[in-house]
Amino acid sequence: MATQQTVKAGTVPRGGEVPLNIWPCAQTSAQWQRQGRYVKESFEHPGKMLPDLARRIIETYSSPGDLVVDPMCGIGTTMVEGAALGRRCIGVELESRWAAVAAANIDHVLDDRQAVRAEVRVGDATELPLVLGDLSGMVNLIATSPPYACEVGRVDKDAWARGDVLCDPASLNYSTDRSNLGHLRHEEYRIAMLAVYQACFDVLRPGGFLVTVTKNMRQKGRLVDLAGTTSVLARQVGFGYLQHNVALLAGLRGDRLAARPSFWQQSHLRKSCAVDRRYHLVVHEDALVFVKPEDCA
Ligand SMILES: C[S@@+](CC[C@H](N)C(=O)[O-])C[C@H]1O[C@@H](n2cnc3c(N)ncnc32)[C@H](O)[C@@H]1O
Repeated sequence: MATQQTVKAGTVPRGGEVPLNIWPCAQTSAQWQRQGRYVKESFEHPGKMLPDLARRIIETYSSPGDLVVDPMCGIGTTMVEGAALGRRCIGVELESRWAAVAAANIDHVLDDRQAVRAEVRVGDATELPLVLGDLSGMVNLIATSPPYACEVGRVDKDAWARGDVLCDPASLNYSTDRSNLGHLRHEEYRIAMLAVYQACFDVLRPGGFLVTVTKNMRQKGRLVDLAGTTSVLARQVGFGYLQHNVALLAGLRGDRLAARPSFWQQSHLRKSCAVDRRYHLVVHEDALVFVKPEDCA
């Protein structure tokens, strides 16, 4: 594995090699990181960012007072954690249902002094310059977790124990609205996300960062390289690729990883073992860091 190296703001690694970092940001589970802080409706969103990971991204790639934007903000993890760290944060979310939960989290988690720094707007990430208006071109950091180009839904084990469905089909892909990018796959996904990354490029200041959090998921047993796709798309719109942070979803226990596989991963694992197939658990997300070149108008 490559040596760990953190890229400082404003520097670009030489020689084409992208430095690799390991971030142990899941020493406690996602539920535990949110427990008692985020409103209970947050748990209905099927694909949230780890609060520790959001904090780590914001602390590493921005400074207090900076403008941080999440163009696909879900229940507002980036806004909440960023405003608590003294950043001005704007979240954009297509679904008014999730935008309302994000607004409730801002009210619930943050004190009044912090809450004035956080804002959520209902809007389309592909139209980010319009949604941000006067603030377009002023953004220091975009930290976002886009849809993962695969089926995500809310697993409800309590409902299952009562004899109901384990995963309500209405919870799939963030919304039943087909215009939600969560429904897109393959080429359709790449075309839409290219437009999102172009919009991100347009609203950033020169030298500003885009950090994407994605996970390589399995479709019909095969791993989909979403990190690779994301780096191709971001570079296509003009970003420089600075750093690959491997955000562990597992706890570190001495020299071992304590994996916390999802229900679906456990289920695939059992099925694979039953037919004597090897199956690797995915225990990390990819936090890729891109920079808008300084010499960009
Ligand atoms: C992976 S989730 C982000 C979760 C977020 N990081 C959090 O912690 O809650 C992706 C989000 O993108 C939203 N989304 C999908 N298409 C969108 C669009 N065109 N514009 C803005 N948001 C969109 C989805 O509704 C979903 O909430």
